[in-house]
Amino acid sequence: MKRTHHCNELRPSHIGQIVTLTGWVHSRRDLGGLIFIDIRDREGRTQTVFDPSDLPKELFEKAAALRSECVVSITGKVRQRPAGTNNSKIPTGEVEVMTQSLEVLNMAEPLPFQIDDPEAAAKVAEETRLQYRYLDLRRPEMARNLKLRSKVAIATRQFMDEQGFLEVETPTLFKSTPEGAREFLVPNRREPGTFYALPQSPQQFKQILMVGGIEKYFQLARCYRDEDLRADRQPEFTQVDIEMSFIEREDIYNLIEGLLQRVWKTALGMDIPTPFKRLRFEEALNRYGIDKPDTRFGMELVDFTEEFKASTFKVFSGAIANGGVVKALNAKGLASATQGQIETMTEYAKSFGAKGLAFIKVENGEWKSPIVKFFSDAEKAALTSKLKIEEGDLILFAADQWLNACEILGKIRLYCADVLKGQGKLTIDPNRFDFLWVVDFPLLGFDREQSRWYSSHHPFTAPVAEDISFLKTDPKRVRGQHYDVVVNGVELGGGSIRIHQPEVQKTVFEDVLQISPEETKLRFGYMLDAFKYGAPPHGGIALGFDRLIAILCNTPSIRDVIAFPKTAKGVDLMTDSPTTVSSKQLRELYLEVKAQKKE
Ligand code: AMO
Ligand code: AMP
Repeated sequence: MKRTHHCNELRPSHIGQIVTLTGWVHSRRDLGGLIFIDIRDREGRTQTVFDPSDLPKELFEKAAALRSECVVSITGKVRQRPAGTNNSKIPTGEVEVMTQSLEVLNMAEPLPFQIDDPEAAAKVAEETRLQYRYLDLRRPEMARNLKLRSKVAIATRQFMDEQGFLEVETPTLFKSTPEGAREFLVPNRREPGTFYALPQSPQQFKQILMVGGIEKYFQLARCYRDEDLRADRQPEFTQVDIEMSFIEREDIYNLIEGLLQRVWKTALGMDIPTPFKRLRFEEALNRYGIDKPDTRFGMELVDFTEEFKASTFKVFSGAIANGGVVKALNAKGLASATQGQIETMTEYAKSFGAKGLAFIKVENGEWKSPIVKFFSDAEKAALTSKLKIEEGDLILFAADQWLNACEILGKIRLYCADVLKGQGKLTIDPNRFDFLWVVDFPLLGFDREQSRWYSSHHPFTAPVAEDISFLKTDPKRVRGQHYDVVVNGVELGGGSIRIHQPEVQKTVFEDVLQISPEETKLRFGYMLDAFKYGAPPHGGIALGFDRLIAILCNTPSIRDVIAFPKTAKGVDLMTDSPTTVSSKQLRELYLEVKAQKKE
């Protein structure tokens, strides 16, 4: 039963050898009295041949009874495939194994979906794939993704070790901290009414490790967030979590650029250029309308606030008089959009709070738009020159407060890029990776509903030194020492230099974020205490490991790079969890379920 080779290994140099292969029946074809079985294992597949004139009758009949995904061990002699029957699609396609013995290790029932054909597999509902994940994982694409994930995890550990980092495990039974996403709670049987929380990230522990003198920490850390799920978000996910003492922002940039260089080399054999470009938050919004810009194509946002200040088009001049801005982008080649398509785009913009989406279509040398009649010659000239307007263009406008206008057009920019890609008017090289650092984020945002400031990143991020004095007087202008690493429009990771002075941290909690002193003491008292006993200056970052692998595998969903992911509703379809528990379990935890079970 022991294999001599994996199913991807045999080449013409093996011809004449007796080999044993073990694996699954990938496919069976009966042709001209012979049976051809492709046997597959984790590494690849090989064609085996059963010739009735060579084999005992009962062995041949055993082969004839095999179905897809039966588990077998096949021993035979490697031979050259007959002329004209080579399969150039697989590495073993020049040879085949003439079977001498077959051991059936297990049978398989008819499959709920076909897994030997990538095209057929692509059409299977994801729910079905997730319910039968063990079958889905046998598909070569999934095996490739998990292999790459493993390779990158090992390369990461190796690189971090070379750089002098210690891998330290931190608890996943942690305490509830109100900042950030909603938490998963774990009831504590020993003290009714008390709970652990699963950590959203090891943020606090890694900072405490710095106070503990570890100096350089990393971990492939499991994180838990009970938030709305999407293709790039899972309730539990993995971070490459990093923290260092006695450093500045530049040290993190260097380290991560080196790590990503190593990862790209290991995974794709590619050399990525460093240093990465830097883009200030404000510039990213001004030019791309988003803080994680995809810079692989242009279609940048252009500001026309100056030009439309005194416009007779009141939508524009009115917005400006209100302290807002007018921004526009040129979707080259989209003038062919129909009225219906423009309406769909307008509705899409409105779903992000736009009041409208003014447009100009440039067709047959004419500007077609209900608003052109309001524009002066000077306004038209400014549009033409700054947007480089030509035949076939579609110009789209947003007039709003700065951040809204930027964000609306940022969404529209991505939307137009997708449409253009679909029409073959925009092509992006799949081997192109545009890395950049987004820096100089505002430390705080303002929540109008609750009328209070919140941390843009998290409350441990240090303000830029020269802005500390504005913390109490003018929080809006305080920049954070926060940075995000972005690739192709995906936020791969984020981090910051931290506050290490207890009095600054206390000011942020109590005066800026308005967490009461009692609450601060309850939630973060141990951190403030720790900082009193010689906390070194420190900072760090966390990369989303699942997102990193998804990018390397060129797949849009992180579910494809996680062995057992959950659906958008947070359900594991294979094990069918979450589930109810017995009343005995609830009693032990002093819990009672009050809501009726949903039908
Ligand atoms: P942050 O919250 O920005 O920072 O997370 C860091 C990175 O983790 C990834 N990520 C996710 N991946 C999958 N599913 C999710 N639900 C999910 N949420 C986040 C993203 C993100 O960039 N403690 C800080 C880091 C630090 O300051 O050092 C933190 O967790 O790729
Ligand atoms: P209205 O005068 O409201 O009919 O709007 C004329 C055009 O301007 C329509 O195409 C609207 O979609 C668009 N529009 C309205 N408000 C805005 C806005 N704030 N920003 C951009 N376009 C707008």
